Amino acid sequence: MEARITVLPGDGIGPEVIAQAVRVLATTADRFGHSLSFEEALIGGVAIDQTGSPLPDDTVTACRAADAVLLGAVGGPKWDDPTARVRPEQGLLGIRRALDLFANLRPITVFPELTAASPLRAELLDGVDILFYRELTGGIYFGDSRTEGDTSFQTMAYSRGEIERIVHLAAQAARTRRGKLTMVDKANVLEPSRLWRQVTGGLVAETYPDIDYEVMLVDAMAMHLLSRPADFDVVVTANLFGDSLTDEASMITGSLGMLPSASLGSAGPGLFEPVHGSAPDIAGTGAANPLAAIQCAALALRHSLGLEEEATVVEQAVASVIADGYRTTDIAAGGPAVSTTEMGAAVVQALGS
Ligand code: IPM
Ligand code: MG
Repeated sequence: MEARITVLPGDGIGPEVIAQAVRVLATTADRFGHSLSFEEALIGGVAIDQTGSPLPDDTVTACRAADAVLLGAVGGPKWDDPTARVRPEQGLLGIRRALDLFANLRPITVFPELTAASPLRAELLDGVDILFYRELTGGIYFGDSRTEGDTSFQTMAYSRGEIERIVHLAAQAARTRRGKLTMVDKANVLEPSRLWRQVTGGLVAETYPDIDYEVMLVDAMAMHLLSRPADFDVVVTANLFGDSLTDEASMITGSLGMLPSASLGSAGPGLFEPVHGSAPDIAGTGAANPLAAIQCAALALRHSLGLEEEATVVEQAVASVIADGYRTTDIAAGGPAVSTTEMGAAVVQALGS
């Protein structure tokens, strides 16, 4: 097949990890006889520096024309001034919204060889396999905001349709997995959460009566995620709760450097980005872990290009380099570590075997 990938390296370690993901995609395409083309575009702080905008129109056009978008990371201290008119993060929020990527899938899986990297006791990690569905284009992230004198406002709004479309995807995913769906909200306090509870409960009763459905308040979920992570299967939640809970969940696996995400709409290209940020403290040192970005490449093959076998082969290559003992600093637990490019090379080599 032929496919176009728009590559948005962004800031900090973004370009370094994305280069390894592109290398893995190109190798996989060669091996399976596909023709992938790659086009780079600007987003985030580098885009501000070069064009004045964190999301230039050309970038949106290039993304719309693509079959999949690979994104590194945005942001850094250089652009952190809270009084600045433009911020790198606006580029990320803008492209999510422009492509209507309402469903953010964040899988939390534990590699057995890496349990020592997790701050949780190994026995708690046994069987952990969680798939978060974070709503990505609504809620308080995109609500009306303003500041009046010394007071600031930001609105949380959700419509029935916005809730239904992500719950459908999450419930369908639960059916293909262990059949369990947890909906996380704050319905004891927030009005939009009460709508989430009503809409989700109704949809499950009507369309997915076979799944094992539970609701949980976000504060309780923050606790249960750490005390019994293996009990969760698919988790669906609003934008802000999903943001916080997935950073927390990343620690179950031991390293934020391992986690990919897929942001999908109902049509058009998906966007694939590591859950980790731009890590300006290690940018340029060769210490970044490219495995999240490489697993993003696998998710792009699966969700946007429909290449399930190729996706699985990439995931197996990642598992095999971990099993063979390759470690970047973040997962080395103080032991010897390889560089970003060495890790990428190891995956490329595993793909060829
Ligand atoms: C994430 C990030 C972003 C978010 C930031 C960088 C805007 O934290 O993807 O989780 O809050 O969505
Ligand atoms: Mg986040």
